[in-house]
Amino acid sequence: MAEKGIFISFEGPDGAGKTTVMTAVADYFKQKLGVDQVLETREPGGTRISEQIRDVLFDDQNTNMDPRTEALLFAAARRQLVVQKLKPFLAAGKLILADRYVDSSVAYQGAGRHLGVDQIWDLNQYAIDGCLPQLTIYLDLPVQVGIERIAKFRADQVNRLDKETLTFHEAVHQAFDQLATRHPQRIVKIDATQPKEKVIQTVLKTINDRFF
Ligand SMILES: Nc1ncnc2c1ncn2[C@@H]1O[C@H](COP(=O)(O)OP(=O)(O)OP(=O)(O)O)[C@@H](O)[C@H]1O
Ligand SMILES: [Mg+2]
Repeated sequence: MAEKGIFISFEGPDGAGKTTVMTAVADYFKQKLGVDQVLETREPGGTRISEQIRDVLFDDQNTNMDPRTEALLFAAARRQLVVQKLKPFLAAGKLILADRYVDSSVAYQGAGRHLGVDQIWDLNQYAIDGCLPQLTIYLDLPVQVGIERIAKFRADQVNRLDKETLTFHEAVHQAFDQLATRHPQRIVKIDATQPKEKVIQTVLKTINDRFF
């Protein structure tokens, strides 16, 4: 293992397989490196303050939340995670696996919610202060396949996939692609239409080739 820690994020649209793949990757590296050498994060949350911000974000009664307020709260929760967990764990040489990070904010809020890709990127740079992943696994799934997967696994949500949400999903997908083009060293795009086991093997090979 490298002297300094390794930070890897998992990105991609809803249902791309981020949680499934990251869980398998975490199990593999806990075996290989030891349970206490691997930190898994899921945002927003992970610290007491970040969890309190999460409660505000997901409170059903906060229906009048302004989109910029929402973007700032996500960034604030992330900031606290960076300071309390990510930086200390990286300094201690551990492996951090993040289920979504800055790229999701850029794609969902910047592109999906029209807050501006560059504005959300800049806002998040202020929050993370240089704490970017060395590697981002982008699980790429065509919008139509994502919709079919949601229809199969979460049939209760399919009725809400009207024209507007289709446009939303397309904007999000386009933003992830654009990020991958802008950050070719950091972001590795993986075809998430392949069977689960194949995706997991490809991701493990990518990580092992890069770091171990
Ligand atoms: N490669 C795959 N092929 C087919 N189905 C898959 C694949 N990967 C994951 N799935 C299934 O798709 C569903 C969504 O997977 P998962 O929850 O891991 O996605 P996610 O990217 O974490 O989604 P979300 O953004 O909503 O958290 C699960 O039921 C999972 O078993
Ligand atoms: Mg998930």
